[in-house]
Amino acid sequence: MPRGYRPGLIAGRPAGKISAMVTLEQVIVPPPAPGQPLDFLAMFGDNAPVEMEIGSGKGGFLLRRARALPDRRFLGVEWANKYHRYAADRMVRWQVPNVRLMRTDAAHLVLHHLPPASLAALHVYHPDPWPKKRHHKRRLIQGPFVVAAVDALADGGRIAIQTDHAAYFKQIQQVLRDEPRLSEAAFDVPEAGAIDGRMETNFEIKYRREGRPIYQIAMVKTASARPRPVESAKGGMT
Ligand SMILES: C[S@@+](CC[C@H](N)C(=O)[O-])C[C@H]1O[C@@H](n2cnc3c(N)ncnc32)[C@H](O)[C@@H]1O
Repeated sequence: MPRGYRPGLIAGRPAGKISAMVTLEQVIVPPPAPGQPLDFLAMFGDNAPVEMEIGSGKGGFLLRRARALPDRRFLGVEWANKYHRYAADRMVRWQVPNVRLMRTDAAHLVLHHLPPASLAALHVYHPDPWPKKRHHKRRLIQGPFVVAAVDALADGGRIAIQTDHAAYFKQIQQVLRDEPRLSEAAFDVPEAGAIDGRMETNFEIKYRREGRPIYQIAMVKTASARPRPVESAKGGMT
């Protein structure tokens, strides 16, 4: 068991008696094999709309949203084993049947394994900012990632990103606005998971308490979007 991982320490209480229906084996899914596309039908057993959260951390946002929207399916991608296991344990305790959690590098997953037009929404809340200049190349939100993410969004699909890091936010705004298939949309939309502009993720709660500003952007893939120009399809880090 990873250090700091304590299955009994879950915020709040499950809604009712825990049945054996939702198990860790069901919640935790393996990353796809090299060269294989993610198979959401096999993962969830149906073709309901799928939302993905990158860097799902302790799973607070996914837990709330999946319980509010039982007809949608949710995939949380997290590479830190401690948080991945914590979130999985939470889904089992709350018996949430429509969440799957994958421990892998989300950048690789998005760039190489997401089927086209397979996502109804992509959530990225407080991606690691990598503040040192020499580490900027490790940031998740860069041109090629955005191109691949938009490929994976269905028409009308939404990408929502939130950070407390002003300089990273500028970069995020720029690469999203440079993508011709995206149109800016309101972030504070209850149907998209916002409660008075808050997504209530663990980091957001902590940062708001510390009085840090929170920056948010949402974009929608428009059905009438211009096709992606060939140059940007090849991509280049910005
Ligand atoms: C600052 S935390 C935010 C967690 C959560 N979204 C929140 O707002 O509370 C960033 C999370 O993203 C995860 N992460 C960063 N880069 C990742 C990647 N490439 N693939 C998967 N997870 C990643 C980290 O392990 C960490 O749990």
